[in-house]
Amino acid sequence: MCHPGLLTMDESFKPYRIAGDYLWKRLEKEGVPLPVLGVVCGSGLSGLSETLDEKILRIKYSEIPGFPAHCTVPGHKGEVVFGMLSGIPTMCFRGRFHSYEGHDMKTVVLPVYVMRCLTVKVVMVTNAAGGLNSSYEVGNVVCISDHLAIPQLAGKNPLVGPNDDELGPRFPATSNAYPKNLRLCAQRAAKELNHDFVVPHGTYCFVSGPMYESRAECRFLQSLGGDAVGMSTVPEIVAAHHCSMQILCLSLITNKVVMAGDEDEEDHGAVANHKEVLEAVQKRAEQIQALVKKTVEIIGKDILPGLPDLSKVSLETPAPLPKDNGSKDEEGKAWRVTISGNQLGFGAMLVATGAVIGMAISRRN
Ligand code: HPA
Repeated sequence: MCHPGLLTMDESFKPYRIAGDYLWKRLEKEGVPLPVLGVVCGSGLSGLSETLDEKILRIKYSEIPGFPAHCTVPGHKGEVVFGMLSGIPTMCFRGRFHSYEGHDMKTVVLPVYVMRCLTVKVVMVTNAAGGLNSSYEVGNVVCISDHLAIPQLAGKNPLVGPNDDELGPRFPATSNAYPKNLRLCAQRAAKELNHDFVVPHGTYCFVSGPMYESRAECRFLQSLGGDAVGMSTVPEIVAAHHCSMQILCLSLITNKVVMAGDEDEEDHGAVANHKEVLEAVQKRAEQIQALVKKTVEIIGKDILPGLPDLSKVSLETPAPLPKDNGSKDEEGKAWRVTISGNQLGFGAMLVATGAVIGMAISRRN
């Protein structure tokens, strides 16, 4: 029987319910426990999912109704893995949907809302980021404590559109999105592992990408208080916070951004590139896995027992979506989200607006 509310609810509320409903039933069928913890693995950091144990269930994004069919960045796999991490039922998303690929913001945060539909309480997000803070070294892992998200302030925001009241309020606060107690768990884990490269706090700047920033843009972000810069994560954090999940975000500094340079010299020295980023990730990947595992162990002992259960999101399979919103599969059950020309055009417009604002402000300084 269809939940009465689902027949009339906004189309944008359905993809995570459809995906959540499908995954919930798969977990039930395979006797895998519902996850309490969710991990979003950043570029090259998917190896963590290989350390899950007990009953493992792997599901490709392409199998999940409501999920987009493609996820195309080197270093990313498109699958979700369920299993135990340090004794905690966990789901790991290997590969995320970036807005720079052309995905709309609702799709970018789809994994997060799916976690919420499956009753996850704590979300850990890892990412690769450029270091804006001059004290950062390549290989540092920063426990993110705040963010600066110009695209999001300008409207490229996953919460724009009708609000799903079952998930969270219309106007959520974000000044409290990075709970200190979870950051302290990561710091304790680092201490126990003798990992001296973990930085206790820092501000992550979300940029649209896919280009690495210009020197003026880096100076601009630094002058605003940014410590690290990257092309992901903040939309997911905002969505997770919106639906009351607790968040821990760890950013691996993979490169120092390029800020200086003589305007008259042709060669400004090093430039950021994706190969450099992936190499830095590879060097630290195992240590980050150990850090995450140890952190989860501590969270399991000290934090999870005190967290209340979250309300259940209504999940019964809704009526099929109209055809022009996606395509049904052969059985007529599942559908895939497609990226429209309008969405790409809107994304391009925001990038251009952001760049113009950035240049205007850096000139004034
Ligand atoms: N800029 C943006 N995103 C990044 C960077 C960077 O320098 N390094 C890794 N991801």
